[in-house]
Amino acid sequence: MKIKFTNFSKEFKILKKDLLKKFNYLGNKGEYILGDELFKFEKKIEKFLKVKHVIGVGNWTEGTIMLLKALSYKTNDEIITVSNSFVATCGAIVYSGQKPVLVDIENDLNIDPKLIEKKITKRTRAIMPVHLSGIPANLNLIKNICKKYKLDLIEDAAHAFGTKYYNQYLGTIGRVGVFSLHPRKSFHVLGDGGLIVTNDTKLYNKIILLRNHGLKNRNESVIWGTNSRLDNLQAGFGNIMLKKINKWNKIQLNFAIHYNNSLKDVVETPVCNLKISNPSFHQYIIKTKFRNALQEYLKKNGIDTAIHYPVPIHRQKAFKNQFGTVKLPKTDYYSKRILSLPINPHLKKIEIDFVIKKIKAFYNTL
Ligand SMILES: Cc1ncc(COP(=O)(O)O)c(C=O)c1O
Repeated sequence: MKIKFTNFSKEFKILKKDLLKKFNYLGNKGEYILGDELFKFEKKIEKFLKVKHVIGVGNWTEGTIMLLKALSYKTNDEIITVSNSFVATCGAIVYSGQKPVLVDIENDLNIDPKLIEKKITKRTRAIMPVHLSGIPANLNLIKNICKKYKLDLIEDAAHAFGTKYYNQYLGTIGRVGVFSLHPRKSFHVLGDGGLIVTNDTKLYNKIILLRNHGLKNRNESVIWGTNSRLDNLQAGFGNIMLKKINKWNKIQLNFAIHYNNSLKDVVETPVCNLKISNPSFHQYIIKTKFRNALQEYLKKNGIDTAIHYPVPIHRQKAFKNQFGTVKLPKTDYYSKRILSLPINPHLKKIEIDFVIKKIKAFYNTL
């Protein structure tokens, strides 16, 4: 049996009829940029997430760069976040002129709130937790710290569309949340895309201008902006995907629970309180000291895996050249142990069972 990490072609087959119909419809209409389809998508997401405003943007990274500009942070203002993330989390901060201040993680692989206060300085403006793999960061504690020090809570919700934390959706709990719609995310379009979500109307009005050259109408520009609009066509594909996301997230969650139950005796399974959340399990990340050998063994047995992330951001040359060395012992420790197993809604239960069987067989060889 061969098990691929992603299943784009299978998904395309399922959605093909609707996608082509949408392509035909929008092509015939000839509306490609800032059209009704995008506005409809934004309204639908507002309703889905129960949030006041949604802005479709080019991708998470550009969206966050615009957001930091809209928040009027100054050069070298500090934003507290994590190193155990895709490089964009810090890249967007640095590109905007601010400084990422990195905090170590807990065993759920998210920011450790106990370590945040030590890193707060006069220059700190925001805390930006990442809900890694769709598992919520400890937002109740983080919210209290934000309140105490008057900091913005910005959620990097790139992995977390459709996940609830208690009774609210991730991304809508802080002042603002940003989602990525990259094809590798559980909720995605067929190319790059992103969503900024907020209940802050002033912030919304600013970002709406920033994403389109500061234009308040076709010919009048009131501030300097950029070009980072979610394409109408991608929004159309997003409207199709939105109908599936609850069902597909649920399938992933059930696969994750099955992995948990079957593997808990041989590896460290993801740490997450399923009583307060229904994580999307954008990735299913186990921890084991035999990571490299296990990955190799699974590869030999036809099973693709991945590592999120093999080189934490504080170990990247780009980071070290600018900010020097940062000590993050848990981030380093886990970076050598984490392994993402295949998970997506298009896998079959027998395929998940095959992965489980092979992992158990690996541990029997030790
Ligand atoms: C946690 C996290 N933040 C930000 C991003 C950047 O998203 P985008 O590719 O839409 O800019 C990613 C993408 O992989 C991500 O995983």
